Amino acid sequence: MVINRRILTLDEFTIQQMRAFPHATGELASLLRDIGLAAKRVNVEVNKAGLVDILGDAGAVNVQGEDVKKLDVYANNQFMGVLKHGISCAGIGSEELDDFIAFDDPVSNNSKYVCLFDPLDGSGNIDVNVSIGTIFSVYRRVSPLGTPAVREDFLQAGIHQVAAGYIVYGSSTMLVYATRRGVNGFTLDPSIGEFSLSHPDIKCPDFGKIYSVNHGNFFQYEKSVQDYIQQCQKKNKDTGGPYTQRYIGSMVSDLHRNLIKGGIFMYPATIDKPKGKLRLLYECNPFAFILEVAGGKATNGKQRVLDIVPTELHQRSPLFIGSKGMMEELETYLKA
Ligand code: AHG
Ligand code: MN
Ligand code: MN
Repeated sequence: MVINRRILTLDEFTIQQMRAFPHATGELASLLRDIGLAAKRVNVEVNKAGLVDILGDAGAVNVQGEDVKKLDVYANNQFMGVLKHGISCAGIGSEELDDFIAFDDPVSNNSKYVCLFDPLDGSGNIDVNVSIGTIFSVYRRVSPLGTPAVREDFLQAGIHQVAAGYIVYGSSTMLVYATRRGVNGFTLDPSIGEFSLSHPDIKCPDFGKIYSVNHGNFFQYEKSVQDYIQQCQKKNKDTGGPYTQRYIGSMVSDLHRNLIKGGIFMYPATIDKPKGKLRLLYECNPFAFILEVAGGKATNGKQRVLDIVPTELHQRSPLFIGSKGMMEELETYLKA
């Protein structure tokens, strides 16, 4: 009998990684398993979103004043529930929660990690069957073990992330996560219900041909950003231009594509949104961490995203992120 052991499952992979650290407790592996479990539950609902009465607005408005979709609430509850009942997470912050939650029970208070989430990203795309995602960010808490998680555990600069990742509910469902050791992608095999290692050691190409930005906002961007976008549209034998413009409107999907193929993604400040739209703690930071580990770069236009020290859970930031060479080209415009 031929036993095919070449494809590792998410659990097998994280446990194997853990063995490289003699003092590892297995808590991070357990946390990633919990996230994988919640992702599978959300995936089931996302797949049948067109069938059941789960589509559409939940009738409420989230803390940022945006309509909340029913699936956002469902996804938030799944991730929150699984992490609360797991053994690795002391508390969570989420786009769908006004404030962070310290789980504050004996097991959670002794857990090393806290998590931040965008439970469903790109939720405006649910009703039209376009790829959506989940984004997560993991920090080692700074408060003492044995006590409830506190605000400072969540307000850490992105450079302190222990792990970050996303799930993309696309034509396949994939979970991609990064630790300092590398970025690895797992595709959900629906026949066995397991995330299986399909994209080991992902590296973002130094150059790509894709730029992703909301062109509808063009006249709201500052001049340097406008100049760069116009450069992307010009014939240029040095850069391989003109680039191809691709913008799905789910940053998980846009950034997943650009991570694999190479490219640049921008959500700059606009006149209407001078701080940008995307949220630093659960949108910008996790992707900045993933892209940097994969060899790319991420800035807010002025400084490295991972160096920003946050002051608020839901704070926004402009975001420029992608292939190293393309980011360096952009930076020559932003400095000018
Ligand atoms: P969310 O659904 O979590 O609110 O995030 C949507 C975000 C992001 O995924 C996407 O890139 C961006 O909003 C699109 O915004 P515009 O429609 O303003 O371009
Ligand atoms: Mn989002
Ligand atoms: Mn969201």
